[in-house]
Amino acid sequence: MREKPMSIELEPLTENNLGALLEAAVADADPAEVMPPVSGDPGWTAQRQQAFLEFHRGRALRAEEPVELTYVITVDGRAVGAARLEYQGDSFEAGVWIGRSHRGRGVGRVVAGRLRSAAVTAGVRRVVAVTTGDNTAARRLLPAGTPMGDDGTVRAAVDLE
Ligand SMILES: CC(C)(COP(=O)(O)OP(=O)(O)OC[C@H]1O[C@@H](n2cnc3c(N)ncnc32)[C@H](O)[C@@H]1OP(=O)(O)O)[C@@H](O)C(=O)NCCC(=O)NCCS
Repeated sequence: MREKPMSIELEPLTENNLGALLEAAVADADPAEVMPPVSGDPGWTAQRQQAFLEFHRGRALRAEEPVELTYVITVDGRAVGAARLEYQGDSFEAGVWIGRSHRGRGVGRVVAGRLRSAAVTAGVRRVVAVTTGDNTAARRLLPAGTPMGDDGTVRAAVDLE
């Protein structure tokens, strides 16, 4: 029997869905996949959960000059990850994380396309993405043949129509 098609949406991050995003991260992702390092005990400590909220409040949710646009990725109405477009002059740097239990089902590819559309809507025609050479799934979302640099990272710039 065919699987029912998923409904995948990008919802702008707000204070109202930030809690659901944190829940998805705690339940289904490692801190290192979704936020910068925080010292202290490993795992989703109360301190690290608070740092996750502050991280987003200091970036997409800050009142003046947000540093990026962030979206909550929903699958069938449930938060499963986040996607971002960080302002970099006349381009955006894109980033995505998806909860473990939703990876490898095509969500990332749909999200990559939606991010490109969101960039065009925001009036930006170039999206840059950077990942590590060993991140096969993330590399597959970059243009085929994008080479790995000497530092082990893979960087692609895509010009949008
Ligand atoms: C990277 C990430 C966003 C990709 O999202 P995803 O929903 O898992 O990706 P998709 O299922 O859409 O797959 C994208 C491509 O990678 C391939 N792929 C997915 N998982 C793979 C795996 N484990 N090994 C090899 N290829 C894989 C898919 O076949 C697909 O390629 P294709 O369309 O050419 O067949 C997701 O895996 C993730 O959140 N990882 C942890 C955080 C992270 O690494 N973020 C990126 C940091 S730069």
